[in-house]
Amino acid sequence: MNARHPQDLPLAAAAPLRDALGRPLRDLRLSVIDRCNFRCGYCMPRESFGPDYPFLPASERLGFDEMLRLARGFVALGVEKIRLTGGEPLLRRGLPQLVERLAALRTPNGQPVEIALTTNGVLLAAQARALRDAGLTRVTVSLDALDDALFRHLSGADLPVARVLDGIAAAQAAGLAPLKVNTVVERGVNEGEILPLVRHFRGSGVALRFIEYMDVGGASAWDRGRVVSADEVRARVAAEFPLRALPGADGGRDGATAQRFAHADGQGELGFIASVSQPFCGDCSRARVSSDGRLYTCLFATRGLDLRPWLAPDSDPEALQQLLATRWARRDDRYSERRAEAPARRYPTVRMSLVGG
Ligand code: GTP
Ligand code: 5AD
Ligand code: SF4
Ligand code: SF4
Repeated sequence: MNARHPQDLPLAAAAPLRDALGRPLRDLRLSVIDRCNFRCGYCMPRESFGPDYPFLPASERLGFDEMLRLARGFVALGVEKIRLTGGEPLLRRGLPQLVERLAALRTPNGQPVEIALTTNGVLLAAQARALRDAGLTRVTVSLDALDDALFRHLSGADLPVARVLDGIAAAQAAGLAPLKVNTVVERGVNEGEILPLVRHFRGSGVALRFIEYMDVGGASAWDRGRVVSADEVRARVAAEFPLRALPGADGGRDGATAQRFAHADGQGELGFIASVSQPFCGDCSRARVSSDGRLYTCLFATRGLDLRPWLAPDSDPEALQQLLATRWARRDDRYSERRAEAPARRYPTVRMSLVGG
């Protein structure tokens, strides 16, 4: 049990909750399982995540009732979007039932909460319709290559890329729009896939987003030389497909992760996520909860606060809210910015598959 008793904490302020750097709490990223059926080198390399890796046993994962209590607490404090992540969230049994219960939540102003999902797409074709019917709003699919051999190599799974493309098509057919595809670009590895991916998704209604390779999780081979900056990726795309910046603050970012651009000929949208070269900690409103119920206030945080004692069936929802509000009010994380300011230092890395990307 935590030493601090919830009753000792100050009451959650009625004014909008802000952290120590003035940032509101808007987004909850909830990891529903730490396992994955892929072994992406930048996240769960096979050398480190082999058959004996001690993944959480099912009994240590948060149950759906606990997740609901948790989500209610966050929504009461200002969260408007809940993103289900993993590992691979579609490996969690009964996920549509969780989605259905989360989709019934309302913000303090009576608005529905957006329920999104990040997946590698392999199990999506089978589940898209049920997820949509349960109230899922949006899906983001990770896809680093269209070339089948490269896809198999990068994903470490013996599955054809067509499985992911079928998953994307099924999600679109089920009405899960706008669908996003996330591509992590690593120099010397999949740079050659940038233009084929743009050509493939142009005009399809899918928003393709390129992500800078970050020093997190299993990215043990990370070095700055392997990061292809968002500006470089954009220049390569723009050389073949003229782009137009979408209006809004921070290059169209508006507190989100991606700088947004449109094909000048109206064939859809692209995003560039410059987490390394232009960190966006300044307006980061994301809280993360791992599948064993720990709260991480930053993607790079090495320690999480165990919320389980506050999630038991007989627990007091107000005590949970007070705990979350107090922890958020103290939050001063800005790891990506600090790394950019002092790149030579060595930083500990966290397991991204636990805290959900
Ligand atoms: P939208 O709701 O569609 O805007 O989703 P999102 O961009 O918030 O979430 P998504 O999971 O699609 O994030 C895309 C990628 O951006 C992640 O996989 C990470 O690589 C990176 N990313 C997301 N959030 C953060 C963050 O808080 N910090 C850093 N450094 N990178 C992040
Ligand atoms: N760098 C950037 N993004 C990463 N992801 C996982 N590891 C990394 C990394 N080292 C993100 C990718 C992937 C999602 C599940 O997590 O976007 O699509
Ligand atoms: Fe699995 Fe996503 Fe990590 Fe790849 S990046 S190993 S698909 S959780
Ligand atoms: Fe937010 Fe931490 Fe990412 Fe900065 S590094 S954007 S504070 S999660």
